[in-house]
Formats: sequence, structure tokens, C-alpha cells
Amino acid sequence: MKVTLAKTAGFCFGVQRAVDTVYRVLEEEHEKPLDEQRSIYTYGPIVHNETVIQKLAAEGVEVLESEEELATLRDGIVIIRAHGVPKHIYELLEKQKVEAVDASCPFVQKIQRLVRQHTAAGEEVFVTGNPEHPEVIGIMGWAEGGISAIPDIETAEKLPNGEGRSVVVVSQTTFNIDKFKLIIDILKKKHYYVNAINTICNATFERQSEAKELAKQSDAMIVIGGRSSSNTKKLFEICKDQCRNTQLIQTVGDLNFVQDEAVQNVGITAGASTPKEIIEEVQNYVRDEF
Ligand code: F3S
Repeated sequence: MKVTLAKTAGFCFGVQRAVDTVYRVLEEEHEKPLDEQRSIYTYGPIVHNETVIQKLAAEGVEVLESEEELATLRDGIVIIRAHGVPKHIYELLEKQKVEAVDASCPFVQKIQRLVRQHTAAGEEVFVTGNPEHPEVIGIMGWAEGGISAIPDIETAEKLPNGEGRSVVVVSQTTFNIDKFKLIIDILKKKHYYVNAINTICNATFERQSEAKELAKQSDAMIVIGGRSSSNTKKLFEICKDQCRNTQLIQTVGDLNFVQDEAVQNVGITAGASTPKEIIEEVQNYVRDEF
């Protein structure tokens, strides 16, 4: 049996960087005498993967889920995850004298900078993306003037006529490129003068196209990822469309694989929040057992 692991399986650059940051901070604190060690928190889970979160919790890293929780801190270190946060969160932490360690993805920071610069110059900005997603909440929280989110085509179609108004359009990093282009076209038809800046990150697109190709050539496909990870669910759907025998698992223990002569090629991919060790474990298990 041939087992092929997708090259893009697992952590993207930004998530890897954020997880590495947590381990670096942990190491630095553990090297200090006990009475000088500070508590370490992440603002929101660092990745959407229960195994990683449990492992970090065992090392003493606590997840803060809300701004209210953040506001109660008086010491410690708060690590900002790859999605980034609004500007006022850094200000809040500074006021409370809590150290902020910034692990927001540089691609997200770039969007935050664009939003700040353009709104500070008096320009109106649209962000294509889900306004309830932490990344978009973070991006919008850097605006110094008019900003709004366009989550979908329907919302773009309902916008009033632009009457020649200039707008800058940026995007959530994981937004679908075709939808982004369609929204730009709609805005132009509505007489907006559009400065479109494509800020979509290629990591998601590359992972999805590779998974699709791999699933096409596979008799069975395994997608590894956390239950709450939306990009993992999306990968599963893409693979299932190409290969009916597709399984979504969180760890090797969930694997339900039976010896079948018809299965000669097995493909494996994983969501952006799946750690390397879990992927390797599944890969080795399938190779050794079948
Ligand atoms: Fe950054 Fe792209 Fe990952 S924006 S967090 S590298 S999906």
C-alpha cells in the first residue's frame, strides 16, 4: 500500500510561529527561579486543536477566553495568537502592566497596518470576511475611521450606490479568492472607486488544492484535525467530494481503517492547527499496520 502525505499538511507558517512562541516563553519562564516565574496565558486558544491545548495546559499555560477575563489580570504574560487582536487589547494589557508577547501572524499584522494607515488618511475601508471571526475583529480594531466588513456576495449586493466614492478593500487572510474578486466587481458596478488590496494568504489555498489533487488519486483519504477547526472541516469536504472513502480524525485512536484489497493508495492531509507529531503518528500507523 502506498501512503502519501500532503506536503502542505499541518501548521501553516503563522500557526507554527505562534506555537513556537508559546514554547519559547515557557522555556524562558521555567529557567527562572520558582518565585520569579510568571503565569503564562494565551488570549484565545493558540490553535484549534484540543491535543495541543491539553499539552500546554499541563505545562501551566492557561487560555483566556474573553476580554473580561483579560481585564482581571494584574501580572503574568499574555501571548497574542496568530489571528491578532484589536489595538485596544495591547493598550489594556499595558495599562494593567501585563506583558504582551505578540505572536500574531505577520500577514495579519500587514492587514492591520494597511487598515490603520488608510483609515488614518481619511479613506473608507471594507474588509471582506466574517465580522465575528477573531481575525476580522482584530483587523477592524486597528481602524481610525470608517471601516466595515463584507462577509458575502449578498451583503455586497445590498450596499447602496457608491456614487464615485473611493474605498480601499482588504480581505480576511482565509477568504475565498473568487468571492473576493466577485465582491470587487459588484462594488465597481455600484460606482465605487475601488483600491483592492488582495491580502488573502496562500497557505489555505495551497493546502486545499493539494488535498483535492491527492484525494483524486487516492482510494482512501485521511484528514487529521481538531473538531472545532473550520479549515479542517473544509478540507474534509473537499477530499470527500473527490474520494468517497475519506475519514476525518483527531488522533490515530479515531482511525477506523479496515484491510481492503481495493485500497492501494492512501492520502493523508491535515488542517492548519494539526501538530506534526500527530500527523507522523497516523502516517506511521497506516504504513506499519496495512
Ligand atoms: Fe498566517 Fe496564513 Fe497561517 S495568514 S496564520 S500563514 S493561514
